[in-house]
Amino acid sequence: MKIALIGFGGMGKTLHRIAQERGHEISIIIDPKDPSATHKTLVEADLKTVDTVIDFSSAEAILDNIKTCHDSGTNLVVGTTGWYDKVPTIKDSLQDNGIGFLWSSNFSIGVNLYFAIVEKAAKLINSFDEYDVWGHEIHHYNKADSPSGTAKTLEKILLDNIGRKTAVVEDRLNRRREDNEIHFSSVRGGLVNFGHTIGFDSPADTITISHSARNRDGYALGAIKAAEWLQGKKGYFEMKDFLNFNS
Ligand SMILES: NC(=O)c1ccc[n+]([C@@H]2O[C@H](COP(=O)([O-])OP(=O)(O)OC[C@H]3O[C@@H](n4cnc5c(N)ncnc54)[C@H](O)[C@@H]3O)[C@@H](O)[C@H]2O)c1
Repeated sequence: MKIALIGFGGMGKTLHRIAQERGHEISIIIDPKDPSATHKTLVEADLKTVDTVIDFSSAEAILDNIKTCHDSGTNLVVGTTGWYDKVPTIKDSLQDNGIGFLWSSNFSIGVNLYFAIVEKAAKLINSFDEYDVWGHEIHHYNKADSPSGTAKTLEKILLDNIGRKTAVVEDRLNRRREDNEIHFSSVRGGLVNFGHTIGFDSPADTITISHSARNRDGYALGAIKAAEWLQGKKGYFEMKDFLNFNS
């Protein structure tokens, strides 16, 4: 594939390396600030020479970028976060089969497998009242938000699947935790930490399920594989369509 990258920060540079390792050509790099970018802004005419656009940039320009790709008939994969309130607005216009469009808040295949494993475990634990439930995450000290979007997804999976748990506490507790609550803690430290653990605890034993990422590679690899899967497809897609764990 010939790929145009929008955003050449930490993710853009990792995508560049992994796409080349998989035999793809990055023919356009759009970034207003990075000196090694080929273009400062996205222009429709430039996209005629590429098969796919991959956007890991900033939420501010995302709607314009989607429109430009749609107008030029170029498939688009979006990893940029922070614009999801706009998804309902764009969904209808992208279901017209003009281009192939796929977005995800988390392109790591490992994290998506982890979500499916935790969901299965939560469904099993639901039948065994003697197990309590807790969560913990650690991320690098540069991370802007806490808890992470991944932790929020894990919290929802636990609440949706364990009937006796109806609330999550993310702050420190200065009281006894209620039986219906899950305490989910967040730590920030180190340069390359991305880790989550879910614990199921009975008077007799503890079961822990953990995922930790060593670097950005898993996110970039997932996005490149999603772009490969999207080739030749038209319409609106999410990560579940690409991974298709249920089939
Ligand atoms: N979906 C996922 O799996 C996943 C994983 C990691 C990061 N992200 C998201 O991807 C985005 C980028 O992450 P990052 O870690 O590379 O951030 P970063 O800050 O390292 O890089 C962002 C880059 O985008 C550039 N940029 C800003 N506005 C732009 C525009 N209008 N057009 C082109 N380039 C523009 C910036 O100059 C910068 O170089 C963030 O939204 C982040 O939350 C998503």
